[in-house]
Amino acid sequence: MSNVATSYDELPYESRPFTEAHPDRLAVVATLFGMRPPPIENCRVLELGCANGSNLVPMAAVLSGSRFVGIDLSRRQIDDARRAVAAVGLTNIELEARSITDLGPELGSFDYIICHGVYSWVPTEVRDKILDICAHQLTPRGVAYISYNTLPGWTLHRMIREALLYHTRRLVTPLDKVRHARQFLDFLARSGGDDPRSNYNVALQKSAETLRPRSDSYLFHEYLEEVNDPFYLHEFVEHAAEHGLQYLGDAHVASMLLGQLPREVEDTVRTLARDLVESEQYLDLIQNRPFRRTLLCHQGITLDHSLRPAALATLAVSTSARPLSPSVDVRSSAFEEFRLPGGRTLSTQEPLVKAALHHLADAAPRRVPFETLLPAARARLERESASLDADRELLGARVLSYYTTGFVSLHRHVPCLASEPGDRPRASPVVRLQALTGLRVTNLWHEQIEVTEFARRLAAFLDGAHDRAALLETMTALVRDGALALAPPPIDTAAPEELRARVRAVLDETLYLFAKSACLTA
Ligand SMILES: C[S@@+](CC[C@H](N)C(=O)[O-])C[C@H]1O[C@@H](n2cnc3c(N)ncnc32)[C@H](O)[C@@H]1O
Repeated sequence: MSNVATSYDELPYESRPFTEAHPDRLAVVATLFGMRPPPIENCRVLELGCANGSNLVPMAAVLSGSRFVGIDLSRRQIDDARRAVAAVGLTNIELEARSITDLGPELGSFDYIICHGVYSWVPTEVRDKILDICAHQLTPRGVAYISYNTLPGWTLHRMIREALLYHTRRLVTPLDKVRHARQFLDFLARSGGDDPRSNYNVALQKSAETLRPRSDSYLFHEYLEEVNDPFYLHEFVEHAAEHGLQYLGDAHVASMLLGQLPREVEDTVRTLARDLVESEQYLDLIQNRPFRRTLLCHQGITLDHSLRPAALATLAVSTSARPLSPSVDVRSSAFEEFRLPGGRTLSTQEPLVKAALHHLADAAPRRVPFETLLPAARARLERESASLDADRELLGARVLSYYTTGFVSLHRHVPCLASEPGDRPRASPVVRLQALTGLRVTNLWHEQIEVTEFARRLAAFLDGAHDRAALLETMTALVRDGALALAPPPIDTAAPEELRARVRAVLDETLYLFAKSACLTA
């Protein structure tokens, strides 16, 4: 048990859920690269440096058949995490205020080990211990995730960090340091002049602009902590290899692919790089990447990085892309466009692919196993006679290509969620808990989403016991009594019918959005 007060006790880290660190993502990447990772519905997960549990607690709530252990040096953060665990009523998670360096075999072994935002921020002996734990306490087919600041991208941040460290060297408390660091950075940005040819001035001004809105917690722990060492990818991979671990891939598979480069740059990198790590190292040098999320597995496992459709057999697919026109005949070979919420579109004329994208859009927010998607798309086309194997190959190839371009997501886990609110909507316990204190909640996909004040207040009553009529009564009373304001246009709260109609409209819309953003359980 830790009794050492740390800077994180004084100024806790504003942690959050990381979809890319979820066992679901780790299992997807491992599956795509030829491994058979442990099933995530029944696995053991360790998070090193779990802070207040913002990442681990929602995972434990969704994967109720798996067991979770979270370790952090800061007692205050672990106490916060334990309060969340008690409020949600979880029994499959243990949290301990301990140093990573004190951990031993008594913890047992784990199928997934997560260490986000720690490796760069701790001294060498802790880094060694993180890899040692991954080497000795990861099950044979297990996957470890470690993120860290990366060179060359972090060079600029390191320059800013050194200036701020120098200026605040005589101050003691984190908040004092942050306050003076902010003033000093603004001073630096103003003092160098406006010459756009000076890379230094441009960098200072950009950093001041970027850091101004960031929280005190972020600024302190990123720029003013004692340790923050960035590494080149090849250095990290060599360090992992010394511990018997090999590079499996990046949590963002698309970032590994040379296809994102202009053709002639891609060709040159192919001639320069002898293996995957060298290829990605050149990518980092070209793109100035500042941060990495690296997956490791044991050496000796044979990996295949060629992305084959066969890997989809155990995966599920989802997309946020929606058809632009609802009434297109998918059986024709006319082009059809599908648009992502950010505005990017994809266009295809292949009937099977169009049918699959329509099926995914209709099923949203649910994830559809690839082996269900294929017959569902074929059924839409009424094409029982076409070759199943040829269709599997075609759809598999398109799904992989859309995955690497960000149009579809892949999953190992299919959470039990409601695609419609129904009469007695039930929000996940984590959403209900987080909505008590803020506008950011973690949905069943492990994403952090922003909700409105109306949604926040409503969430407390989404326990499956209140039907729509009771919800309407409750929310109308809150608005009528002045405890909750509706967004403009203004409403006469003394006119009961008008008020009810407005609240009903907002309630229906809010419940619909809760369902579509994966906040409601089935
Ligand atoms: C930058 S924060 C990252 C927190 C969280 N993983 C995230 O990314 O949001 C680093 C965390 O590592 C923890 N930590 C630092 N040294 C540690 C050690 N030796 N043993 C356990 N935890 C440690 C800190 O208390 C802190 O919560």
